[in-house]
Amino acid sequence: MSDALALTIRPLTLDDVPEITPIEQEAFPELTHGTPWQTELESKLSRYLVATFPGSAAVEQVAGYVGLWFVLDEAHITSLAVRIGLRRQGIARRLVMAAVGLALERDCILLTLEVRASNSAAQELYRTLGMRKVGVRRGYYSDNREDAWLMTVEGLETPAVRESLETLRQQIAPEIPPFVVRLQDDD
Ligand SMILES: CC(C)(COP(=O)(O)OP(=O)(O)OC[C@H]1O[C@@H](n2cnc3c(N)ncnc32)[C@H](O)[C@@H]1OP(=O)(O)O)[C@@H](O)C(=O)NCCC(=O)NCCS
Repeated sequence: MSDALALTIRPLTLDDVPEITPIEQEAFPELTHGTPWQTELESKLSRYLVATFPGSAAVEQVAGYVGLWFVLDEAHITSLAVRIGLRRQGIARRLVMAAVGLALERDCILLTLEVRASNSAAQELYRTLGMRKVGVRRGYYSDNREDAWLMTVEGLETPAVRESLETLRQQIAPEIPPFVVRLQDDD
């Protein structure tokens, strides 16, 4: 991560939509409809975060975003995109770690996602964050019937997994608040 790009990760708001829309379009050109942001941001089941940095004249610029859905005790990463000119600087990694933080705050036991079988860049990103391929959904994507890989990190309720995620957070995203490793009812 370049020192020049001091990131802030914060909740996405409707004011961010004009900057998020082109990032979504360039990341997912196959989408015929963009995300219905108003509905998504009003939903109690979803959370979105943006990574921003101070641009010229210190005007905040959006670099990327991540979206999550929460279903019972599972967190599902539904979208992740970084502006093309800002890729390979660790921004997605930091966004995913912030998403992990939200899953831990909600006492989720599992973080999961689908990723295109051809998307080796994203698969590699998730793998470096401790997620593993646990299955394949055949023909999952409606635009080209491509398979999805199902990738997860399980055992978020266990001190051992929390500890390893906290170690990753310290290395990757020290600006994010520490993850609580031992829960109150642990021995
Ligand atoms: C996938 C995506 C979010 C990655 O964003 P990013 O900010 O460039 O990713 P990072 O810089 O945090 O990469 C972290 C690691 O992921 C892996 N990675 C990321 N992009 C990669 C690429 N193009 N090729 C190979 N590995 C890649 C590497 O291990 C990388 O670490 P390294 O740079 O130290 O080698 C970005 O390429 C994107 O927006 N793609 C289009 C949308 C998309 O595919 N979203 C994911 C849907 S599941």
